[in-house]
Amino acid sequence: MNLRRVILRGGLLMTATVSAYALSGCQSAQTEKIQTEGQKGESGEPEHSDNQNQDQNDQKGEKGDSPFYAGMAMSETPDLSELLTGSMNLADYQDKWVYYEEYGCYGLEYVVYCENPADPVKECMNIYVPEAYMNSDGTINLEGTVNGYTAETAPIIYKNGIGGYAQADASKMSEKNRSYIDQGYIFVSPASRGKETQAEDGTYIGKSPAGLVDLKAGIRFLKANDEVMAGDADRIISIGTSAGGAMSALLGSTGNVSDYDVYLKEIGAIMDQTDDVYAAQAYCPITDLDHADQAYEWMYENLQTYKNSRSNQEGESSDFEKAVSGLMASEYVDYINALGLKDPETGETLTLGEDGRSGSFYEYMKKQVEDAATKYLTKLSDGSLSATYSLDDYLKGNYTKTGRGKRPGEAGKEEAGTDLSSFLTWDGTTAKISSLDDYLSAYNPRMKTVMAFDNLEMTENSGENLEFGDADHKYMHFDSYMSGVLEKLKESFPSEYAEYADAYSAVNGDQELAERKKLLNPLNYIGNQDAKADTAKYIRIRVGTQDADTSLSISAEVALTLQNQTDADVDYALVWDQPHGDADYDGELIEWIDQICQK
Ligand code: DHB
Repeated sequence: MNLRRVILRGGLLMTATVSAYALSGCQSAQTEKIQTEGQKGESGEPEHSDNQNQDQNDQKGEKGDSPFYAGMAMSETPDLSELLTGSMNLADYQDKWVYYEEYGCYGLEYVVYCENPADPVKECMNIYVPEAYMNSDGTINLEGTVNGYTAETAPIIYKNGIGGYAQADASKMSEKNRSYIDQGYIFVSPASRGKETQAEDGTYIGKSPAGLVDLKAGIRFLKANDEVMAGDADRIISIGTSAGGAMSALLGSTGNVSDYDVYLKEIGAIMDQTDDVYAAQAYCPITDLDHADQAYEWMYENLQTYKNSRSNQEGESSDFEKAVSGLMASEYVDYINALGLKDPETGETLTLGEDGRSGSFYEYMKKQVEDAATKYLTKLSDGSLSATYSLDDYLKGNYTKTGRGKRPGEAGKEEAGTDLSSFLTWDGTTAKISSLDDYLSAYNPRMKTVMAFDNLEMTENSGENLEFGDADHKYMHFDSYMSGVLEKLKESFPSEYAEYADAYSAVNGDQELAERKKLLNPLNYIGNQDAKADTAKYIRIRVGTQDADTSLSISAEVALTLQNQTDADVDYALVWDQPHGDADYDGELIEWIDQICQK
């Protein structure tokens, strides 16, 4: 086995195990075991990935054939010898800064941010500072200014690279991120553990809440080093997309909550610092996983054909799946009605009618879609989009556009535009849609199968089954409602009941699983007085109107709860014509950052 050792500064000897290296080649005979009977594997032994060699390739920037998720950064796993470790004081690394001429910045790479890392390769960060704020000897230059900021006032962008709840490496400075440097911000890219991270002995060390805990530890590290590093640690702005967007929403809403202390202490995070952030940008957060399956069925109950280009699944739900969908959708109605959400503008309580297609919450969601279309069509009309088609051609779908490639840098296919006239009207000022179902079927169809997150058959297709596994179990079921749904379907679908009921029934009563779920859901903390969360001052949430990775209502739940129950300044909107990813108009994120940093 490929055990590696690293000498820490200060003479401490630490044995570091890195799953991707340590496990490759030592488990070829291990067959993948998918748990469909009960939560735990029969043997009780760790169930290793037989994909380990693939996983290793994934870390080298070429993400291989495994699913590429929107939030994933293109990055490389460093060798242990590349890590800066042994000190929590950045002043000790003053001579390690490297000047990157092409980006006009200094960088300090692979700094381990906690004292007792579970996996130091995944608990390190890269820091990039505009050259104006530093001297070539690694000291701070207080005189330099960029865009009105100085080494003392510049915001720190804390952009996680998490996608699909996977582990993330620290990203190098790249064209994609250079705008932050050009803008005068500090750019920090933290690595973090994730659903597949394993120790040398095969145990999983990155399951919930490990990734979030790592990100919190990184924030504590930045705050501890505020005096010796350029940038204002009171102006940390978290950014993330999808699973990383969920993490960003969590960073913004669980600041300094003591529930995470035990996990933070375990990895040697700096406990006399805080981990709240100034602001959080969440793109298409895949969150409230406790209700994500219900929410997906609420949104897509009337659309039972699916096409998932990530997993290559395509087809139509079975009668059993349709029955599950109906029951899940109706439970989501109860859930939304119990939340007591209020429209922040009118104060009206937002509820759903029994059919899920009436009531003020339904109207609120419809209006979010309409507002997104209105903004796009207004911009298209006034020429402020760099579009090659006229408004009229756009509305009729008389144009082609280049779709997104499956991975960054990969060209997408040329796609025909969508004829919007079946569901959208535009009077020159305002867009209206005929119904959510019409919009979804024509323009944002169903992507995932029934039990979109807590899959009936646990496979690599569900990041969430993996995320909620434990040290010894690669996958676990986690939806606490499915067991009750199956009971209701016992008579009409006896064979499916026999196949799935035991496995899902293990969810309820599993206290450890309940804890892992609780810690990963911002809705458990927003407005929870007992938890005493320090919420970010500013939270911005953006989701594309062509995002079918989770229900659009999920991000609305988060935004509304924040608006209703905290002092945070929440900027929430859907973005027309954008798929799952960093849904935004060019320049708006930077505009928001400059605005909240009160330039
Ligand atoms: C991501 C996408 C998903 O559909 C999901 O279930 C979890 C994460 C992502 O893009 O990160």
